[in-house]
Amino acid sequence: MLQMKIEGNRLLEGTVRIGGAKNSAVALIPASLLSDGIVTIDNIPNISDIDALNEILEYLGAKVSNHDGTMIIDSSTTINKEIPEQISKKLRASYYFMSALLGKYKHVEMYFPGGCSIGARPIDQTLKGFKALGATVKEDGNKFTIDAEELIGGHVYLDMPSVGATINTILVAVKANGETIIENAAKEPEIVNITTFLNNMGAKITGAGTSVIKIIGVEKLGSCFTEVIPDRIEAGTYIIAGALMGNNLRVENIIPDHVATLTLKLKEMGVKIEVGDDYAIVSASEHLKPVKVKTLGYPGFPTDLQQPLTTLLTLCDGTSILEETIYENRFQNVEYLNKMGANIIINERKIKINGPTQLHAEEVKATDLRAGACLILAALKARGETTITNIEHVLRGYENIEGKLKSIGAKISIEQI
Ligand code: EPU
Repeated sequence: MLQMKIEGNRLLEGTVRIGGAKNSAVALIPASLLSDGIVTIDNIPNISDIDALNEILEYLGAKVSNHDGTMIIDSSTTINKEIPEQISKKLRASYYFMSALLGKYKHVEMYFPGGCSIGARPIDQTLKGFKALGATVKEDGNKFTIDAEELIGGHVYLDMPSVGATINTILVAVKANGETIIENAAKEPEIVNITTFLNNMGAKITGAGTSVIKIIGVEKLGSCFTEVIPDRIEAGTYIIAGALMGNNLRVENIIPDHVATLTLKLKEMGVKIEVGDDYAIVSASEHLKPVKVKTLGYPGFPTDLQQPLTTLLTLCDGTSILEETIYENRFQNVEYLNKMGANIIINERKIKINGPTQLHAEEVKATDLRAGACLILAALKARGETTITNIEHVLRGYENIEGKLKSIGAKISIEQI
């Protein structure tokens, strides 16, 4: 097990550069299987979720190289075989192989995906998309066997704008005969990144970034190059770090529109923040105003920044309310923030953060990726040395977090225990 130690209450200054988006990269890599050529993907983040996907690609027989964040994938040598349960359940994004293999071979066998334990996370909408395109789904415990004699374009109305179901349906529809329409599609920037990638390969997708996406299937997809967009959640996390302990901390390589719900909320709170073309400069501020925040699909406030933001809300002069509408179990960080001195009360899907409170060092546990980010932020603010156990969760999604935080003045180390 890995644990992180942080000596808190130190100013964060200088520049931190944001890497490629985890939630784009983890879909682009499986999507590359659909190409009959060689694809090159630039700006791949160096995180352990990518290692897990590479393992699946190599298991399937693809030729993969990854140097300095540039991945070259040749899937002409892949063999369609069952993806074993212990690999499928390593991460949520393994289920993008379900759709990529179904699109490519019209047959796939794999298991229920893994991912952070933040709610039930069913995959019914993905299966609904597959069925609408002519596939039959056989479920045997955790195992899924999905077949299609022929994939035919269809009309899919998603019950909620699920990121995963939108991407999975697109990955099958690009190889189906005829036209597919996805209604109530997710509008996240990662979806635009993936459809641009597929269109560069020769797919015909329009409407990405809106709630209606139209796909006209094609027979072949070719070679292409694409770049992973900057990670808006990593960006948001460092921006919040700046609001806690920054002295003109510059967070660069961001797309300001992608983090606008956060930066506007911080302005509402009274945080000193300047947003430029591709950067934000943030400083710690006194007497922050309490706010109300409700998580929603893009362009609403992202659920993935809800836990990191909670740390900052403990400093506000008064009571803030945070409502989580996407996941049922995304408040596991609260117990540990309270242990560090926060005053937070959970009431079903809402938390009430009574501030201001002074955070102090403690031994705490990262229960999931963003809960870990929340506790790292709390440790950066707290007096004394905080120990965060189970830090592996954080390394799944934050590239070189130790090095990046050190370079802006944090005293931080990761050790094996
Ligand atoms: N949902 C269903 N049925 C489905 C699909 C989703 O009920 O078939 C529900 C989920 O249970 C959840 C909600 O709909 O309550 C949203 O799920 P969605 O499918 O949008 O999420 P996801 O694709 O599983 C991705 C990210 C998450 C991020 C969400 C929302 C990846 C690998 N994961 O998950 O990222 O929170 O979109 O933006 O892309 C993270 O990075 O920490 C993370 C959890």
